Amino acid sequence: MPEVKESPRVAVYGLGAMGLEIVRILYRRHARVVAGIVRPGSDKDGRDLGDLAGVPGLTFPARGDASQALHEAAPDIVVVTVSTYLDDTQFGIFSTAVRAGAHVITLAEEMLYPFATDNPLARELDTLAREHGVTVTGTGHQDAYWVNLISVLAGSTHDLGGIEGRLAWNVDDFGPALAEQQRVGTTTEDFSRWLAGTERPPSFTHYSLYALAAAVGLTPDGTAECVTEPVLAERDIHSKALGTTVRSGTLLGYTDTDTLRTKEGITLSVSSQGKVYDEHETDYNEWRVTDGSGKPTLHLRNSDLSTAHTTCASLVNRIPDVIAARPGIVTVDQLPQLRYWTGLHLA
Ligand SMILES: NC(=O)c1ccc[n+]([C@@H]2O[C@H](COP(=O)([O-])OP(=O)(O)OC[C@H]3O[C@@H](n4cnc5c(N)ncnc54)[C@H](OP(=O)(O)O)[C@@H]3O)[C@@H](O)[C@H]2O)c1
Repeated sequence: MPEVKESPRVAVYGLGAMGLEIVRILYRRHARVVAGIVRPGSDKDGRDLGDLAGVPGLTFPARGDASQALHEAAPDIVVVTVSTYLDDTQFGIFSTAVRAGAHVITLAEEMLYPFATDNPLARELDTLAREHGVTVTGTGHQDAYWVNLISVLAGSTHDLGGIEGRLAWNVDDFGPALAEQQRVGTTTEDFSRWLAGTERPPSFTHYSLYALAAAVGLTPDGTAECVTEPVLAERDIHSKALGTTVRSGTLLGYTDTDTLRTKEGITLSVSSQGKVYDEHETDYNEWRVTDGSGKPTLHLRNSDLSTAHTTCASLVNRIPDVIAARPGIVTVDQLPQLRYWTGLHLA
């Protein structure tokens, strides 16, 4: 594993809404940002990272030649904020960072618990990371608000029957990648076709329920299910993420309700609504714990959250944990409790 004694050298791969916010936080937290990587041919290729992120001092260009740029910059860790799933493209990005000898931390939702499905790329990436002595971890808003806080809550009951979550997040707090993911602006017919198609991958919350099960020490019994319902605009609403107007009657987003049963007889479920907000709507996470008879025992609600801020801040605060972890894919349930670090360097 690379030795890191001072503030880590960090590269950010994917300079969209989240990547640039992470650059700003890293800069404020005195981490050494050493490279910014963009898609080859992107109009950001060659522009100063400081100009793109709106921070002074980062006077080097964003680069589209990832492999070469990472070898030259020699980061301790690469932050990847490109897309959601561990597909061939994202595997290529992670393996480029791993082959450059860097740890990887990512917001890709599948990476929160990539072993929730039988994705062969997860096993391949795990092997590659072990061979190179580096760690690969997925984190983000889910780490604190859908996994860590909830496992602590469950730890304060003596009779656990189930855990049920409801949450909402504003698509417009993120970039176009997530807006497209949430089918914003599509018609109900398009949405039904997409939903019925075989190509739809598991929801974000599918992965987070597996991470929560692991954090609480539960074993999924293999009977996960997801119900997805569109949320329609009742009037024309502007989407900042897409830069277009969502017409009345088309999709603002959708709600996924995932349920995961466990061998211990404890059921975990979460209903996640990701859509373009109307005025006065705000993010929240709400969790209820029930006992063995189904009676509600505990309730936790986080209201008026900035999901985008907590996403990026959680990732940055995870950097020391990921650098200190064993090689391979290490999911957040195997890391220490998420915490704030005054400095990001290791002792
Ligand atoms: N875990 C969480 O809590 C959480 C929260 C928010 C977002 N996310 C994840 O983070 C991802 C990014 O979110 P965002 O809001 O920042 O989206 P975004 O603004 O659309 O940014 C995505 C960026 O990735 C770049 N990109 C695409 N393919 C690339 C490639 N092959 N190489 C280098 N860069 C590439 C895009 O560049 P172009 O513009 O050139 O295409 C874009 O700048 C989302 O897809 C989502 O999966 C996770």
